[in-house]
Amino acid sequence: MKNFRLRTMAGGVLLAGLFACSEPKFETGSYQVIPLPMDIAETVGAAPFIIRPSTTVCYPEGNEALERTARFLASYIKEVTGTEVKTGTKAGSKNCIVLDVDPGLGNKEAYVLDVTDRRVTLTGATEAAVFLGTQTLYKALPITEGQALGALPAGTVKDEPRFAYRGFMIDVGRHFFSVDYLKELIDVMALHNINYFHWHLTEDQGWRIEIKKYPKLTEVGATRKETITEPGSKEYDGKPVSGFYTQEEAREIVRYAAERFITVIPEIDLPGHMLAALASYPELGCTGGPYEVPTRFGVFDDVLCGGNERTLQFAKDVLNEIMDIFPSPYIHIGGDECPKTRWEKCPKCQAKIRELGLKSTREHSKENQLQVWFMSEVEKEILARGRQMMGWDEILEGNPDPSKTVMAWTSPKAGVKSAQLGHPTIITPIHYLYFSNPWINRLMGEASVKRVYDFEPVADTLTVDERKNIIGAQGCIWTEWTKDSVKMEWQMMPRIDALSELQWTQPEKKDFGQFTQRLRHQLKLYDLKGWNYKSLDEADSLKYRQFKNW
Ligand code: ACM
Ligand code: ZN
Repeated sequence: MKNFRLRTMAGGVLLAGLFACSEPKFETGSYQVIPLPMDIAETVGAAPFIIRPSTTVCYPEGNEALERTARFLASYIKEVTGTEVKTGTKAGSKNCIVLDVDPGLGNKEAYVLDVTDRRVTLTGATEAAVFLGTQTLYKALPITEGQALGALPAGTVKDEPRFAYRGFMIDVGRHFFSVDYLKELIDVMALHNINYFHWHLTEDQGWRIEIKKYPKLTEVGATRKETITEPGSKEYDGKPVSGFYTQEEAREIVRYAAERFITVIPEIDLPGHMLAALASYPELGCTGGPYEVPTRFGVFDDVLCGGNERTLQFAKDVLNEIMDIFPSPYIHIGGDECPKTRWEKCPKCQAKIRELGLKSTREHSKENQLQVWFMSEVEKEILARGRQMMGWDEILEGNPDPSKTVMAWTSPKAGVKSAQLGHPTIITPIHYLYFSNPWINRLMGEASVKRVYDFEPVADTLTVDERKNIIGAQGCIWTEWTKDSVKMEWQMMPRIDALSELQWTQPEKKDFGQFTQRLRHQLKLYDLKGWNYKSLDEADSLKYRQFKNW
């Protein structure tokens, strides 16, 4: 006869199970995880499922994705509880965690977890949904590290996401991060049910992806000689910053993410933010250069020439190589922060404007319309390969057709405008969801996560139909002042927990006080993983004073 105590429902507090003489000690976890599942019904008073060395994680024979997911789950169990379980295809009547697919569950990311003391079944509408269910189990396990067996409370969890698009962006242009480290960040995303990794691959300050037809992009454009020491400074650190991903390495990232049901969206940011490309191929600019990979940050007047056939061909060639590497249905081509200073004076740009018959209107200058034309030409290449174009909200300045997916970053209002114009819209405002935003970085302790948690991506000024155009939300880290993993993680965690809850959980279920309780367990998991994070305790933030809050 087993003795056990259930942990309390509300706080997710773990209570050690008492142990009878023949039974090893166990602790029972909690389904009060982040993001909070849609529906948790625990069987009060029923014995939990104890995970033992004899437990098997079972998957249907021949289903490679579920076999891999079973191995992932076994590795999470080992990491968190110290117990080494088996994986296999023969599900017995007891002592099994059974993974299975049932397309009848509806939402393709819906899963149901059913737990008794004899058996756990995790059924997903798709393999992706089963993987998401294993992330819930990962977070629901007690962290015992071999001091006790782990157990799961008896009951049922039914879960599915609020938004189909749940993204996170990392800029590798300003600072380079290794393939191995990006894999670790993909693990962080997976743990938070994020399903799109938006990989910002090119910037003024560094071109980071091998393009075989244009080798100078990485021979010249992947290196800057030094970097400004702090915002507004006139001093430079004298240290070169360099690095790029070979196409093979990028494919490796795509594969690693896909195994975790994360789609990698590549971004080639054009026609602005292209100085590294111009330094490599000066003929792509309006003035012909010479150009240098910049050592400061900001918005630069030198951009791709919008009226030059060679520039357009360059963009198409680059994107074709990108589409060979990335199977993503979305291809991001930027469109943000592109001053028209050079285009206003450039004979080629002005000739193109005349040829296309573009005229300035009260709302849209002829140069803005040239950008729309340029991006639409690039888009044709993307559509021809069965993909869709994505761009930042400045693409709305030229009045493009509503097929284009818009990432609304400049303000929450930009998201409203985009949705009203009928664009599929992803909400990622600089004021709330840019985790590298210096003003927001100054917020410490709970205030830092609350800033994200309280943001509602669907504005109440939108009509019911317009609301359907908000397909999701995204967090972004721009790396001007993010040189290493410590700063990266300190900005990401635990704000990514608040983000995941606004991406996944229905708003009526949200409760900040309860969230911070659930966060305590999550931070213990971060400790176990060795990830840096911004503590809920303000005093602890002094530890990271070297970041000077920007
Ligand atoms: C952006 O932050 N410039 C998209
Ligand atoms: Zn030009």
